[in-house]
Amino acid sequence: MTTPLRLGIAGLGTVGIGVVKIVRQHAALLKARTGRDIVITAISARNRDKDRGVSMSGYAWEDDPVALATRDDVDVYVEVMGGTDGPAKVSTQAALAAGKDVVTANKAMLAIHGQALAEQAEAAGRVIRYEAAVAGGIPVIKALSEGLAGNEITRVMGVMNGTCNYILTRMEKAGLSYQEAFAEADGLGYVEADPTLDVGGIDAGHKLTLLSAIAFGTKPDFDGMELEGIERVSIDDIRAAADMGYRIKLLGVAQRTGRGLEQRMQPCLVPANSPLGQLEGGTNMVVIEGDAVEQIVLRGPGAGEGPTASAVMGDVCDIARGLRLPTFGQPAHTLETATRARSQLPAPFYLRMELMDKPGALAKIATILGNSGISIDRMRQYDHDGTNAPVLIVTHKTSRAALDDALAAMETTDVISTAPVALRIEHL
Ligand code: HSE
Repeated sequence: MTTPLRLGIAGLGTVGIGVVKIVRQHAALLKARTGRDIVITAISARNRDKDRGVSMSGYAWEDDPVALATRDDVDVYVEVMGGTDGPAKVSTQAALAAGKDVVTANKAMLAIHGQALAEQAEAAGRVIRYEAAVAGGIPVIKALSEGLAGNEITRVMGVMNGTCNYILTRMEKAGLSYQEAFAEADGLGYVEADPTLDVGGIDAGHKLTLLSAIAFGTKPDFDGMELEGIERVSIDDIRAAADMGYRIKLLGVAQRTGRGLEQRMQPCLVPANSPLGQLEGGTNMVVIEGDAVEQIVLRGPGAGEGPTASAVMGDVCDIARGLRLPTFGQPAHTLETATRARSQLPAPFYLRMELMDKPGALAKIATILGNSGISIDRMRQYDHDGTNAPVLIVTHKTSRAALDDALAAMETTDVISTAPVALRIEHL
């Protein structure tokens, strides 16, 4: 007769409550699939008395997550509190040291401390699973580390922050300003307590860091990621991009280049009719390319109680079944230190600028681009207000370095009235 798998859950927010509900509602299903009862023995959260809409009376309570993580009647420590350091990290370390497996939704902790935690887990013969940390309910960690294990992965990209995608979608569909769309998302409870995590691209950057480690066999390197948020995307950019057949997305891309690993999370233009271009609202999408499989596209809810709890429970079921994999798809000590390559591969760029409406202004800009070796693909000038003329330029493929030279040269002219916005165009 098999013994039950006993969970200790730290954090009773959206994810934790979702896990409690699934364990209760699907007890028979989980047993049928894993061959074991899956039970919750103990819980911990900041506020014991809060009404969570679900009775917690059957579970032992711990104020201290470390005490929970090290209890004798806990086999798997489910860390769904969040936070890069502090209680999340300390309790995870304590759980591993006490011989527990860990399931977490904590992308920030793993993006920063994942290598050390993976080494600790593997030295102790324990596993850390984190499907809920990346793209909510989409089983992308599993796809990448298991289903695609026979491929050399060539590129991973995606939209992995639902809040940003919601804001950008609302700007385009409802003509809202960035501030109006942000306020709407905030009112719906989408935005993290620290909004910079979402709109600054940090949350999505953490997620891409984890996918990149698995895809390319490198130590998670969040500091090596080029990061830019959506705060500077204006309704003018959204409209201009749409006018030229593109949509603006906070897009993450990780790929090997001749000089090293390129990792970036930044607003990009993608063709409006592409799968990424058609992604609306809070939905996430991850595109994975491998030498054998070619391309797969995964799409689904990136946040919320059900989707994140679904991902946590997938990990719990694997542990119950005895499936034990290294944290980042290969033993932690075999992961290479990534050589950082800053956006090496040439790409077309979108430029929007306000030019002073005087003779030769456009010619000066065209000359600067030409001098930097940048060829113009398309150009549009919109109605001007008598003083300034909004101009859009789409370049042919160019390096970021050449573009930066050209942008710096533009700043020194007397024809630009607002600094140009430059966004990469990513063709899929
Ligand atoms: N705040 C995230 C998002 C979900 O908007 O996608 C948690 O990572």
